[in-house]
Amino acid sequence: MRKLLLQLDTSVHPSVFDRVVAFDAGADEVMSYGGVNEDTVRDLVHGAIFTRGPKDLHHTAIFIGGTDMAAGERLLAAVRKAFFGPMRVSVMLDSNGSNTTAVAAVSKLQQAVGSLQGLRAVVTAGTGPVGARAAGLLVMSGADVAITSRRADASAAASIGQRFGGTIRSLTMADASGAGAALAGAEVLLNAGPAGVQLVPLGAWAGTGVRAAADVNAVPPSGIEGIDVRDDGAEKEGAVVFGALGVGGLKMKIHKACITRLFERNDLVLDAETIAEVARTLPSKTDAPRGT
Ligand SMILES: NC(=O)c1ccc[n+]([C@@H]2O[C@H](COP(=O)([O-])OP(=O)(O)OC[C@H]3O[C@@H](n4cnc5c(N)ncnc54)[C@H](OP(=O)(O)O)[C@@H]3O)[C@@H](O)[C@H]2O)c1
Repeated sequence: MRKLLLQLDTSVHPSVFDRVVAFDAGADEVMSYGGVNEDTVRDLVHGAIFTRGPKDLHHTAIFIGGTDMAAGERLLAAVRKAFFGPMRVSVMLDSNGSNTTAVAAVSKLQQAVGSLQGLRAVVTAGTGPVGARAAGLLVMSGADVAITSRRADASAAASIGQRFGGTIRSLTMADASGAGAALAGAEVLLNAGPAGVQLVPLGAWAGTGVRAAADVNAVPPSGIEGIDVRDDGAEKEGAVVFGALGVGGLKMKIHKACITRLFERNDLVLDAETIAEVARTLPSKTDAPRGT
């Protein structure tokens, strides 16, 4: 029976990236819908669950994407609400690559330091989908986590803390000139800022006690000055560092493994924590986060 993936995207245009990865990971057909929200999703879900008998429903799955993490979370809740009894399919949430990228980045950082327990971690521009998920995974791993934002608004940190069951501090960092102060005492650094924006100058992290640093921005200039996109465990300025391609290689493995898993049963829900569990099963055990 053909493996059908229903791609529900909260943005107007369904992500081409997510669609290509779905095919590459083994989906036979990807049915893509854009501009989907919690008010319009029920009938789409019913179309997926009422067409095949319960024993065949693992051949159908749902992928939720889009640029807005909060909208993705609302959509996931609505999708799950539309299921009942055995009438359900597996579903994965990865708005803007948030969960798969965050799991990959936190895995790399954890691999570099051994254990994140008690370490002070700062996620620059941590209010976006990737940074928020990474901050949540870091706090679940026992780190003392702060996120930065250009705005003096702690609501994003509060909602991440609520979602992941921990306390995240919020630091206001208007621009790169504030990075030194934001990173005071930091041992782990993750830049989750937008493409092409350098948020952390070399002097803000080099030789300051930062033991591991990862940058997920792939577009020049690098988000963290001194880290090359291809860095994947290099030692620089006293830290083990990872660039966007170093993180991205693992992200792609995790993303594809998750799509494969969706078609193995009909009741899987893949979100940050369960995607981290899938990552732990990948061949290189040291790439997967522990304790989450
Ligand atoms: N390597 C990979 O495999 C991979 C995969 C997916 C995504 N990515 C990359 O991951 C990064 C994060 O993605 P995302 O979707 O979470 O990011 P995003 O939402 O575009 O941006 C994250 C945060 O950056 C801040 N920001 C926006 N514009 C800014 C500017 N001009 N200067 C300074 N701060 C700014 C905003 O926070 P405030 O308004 O609170 O300041 C925003 O919430 C991006 O660089 C993306 O390309 C990498």
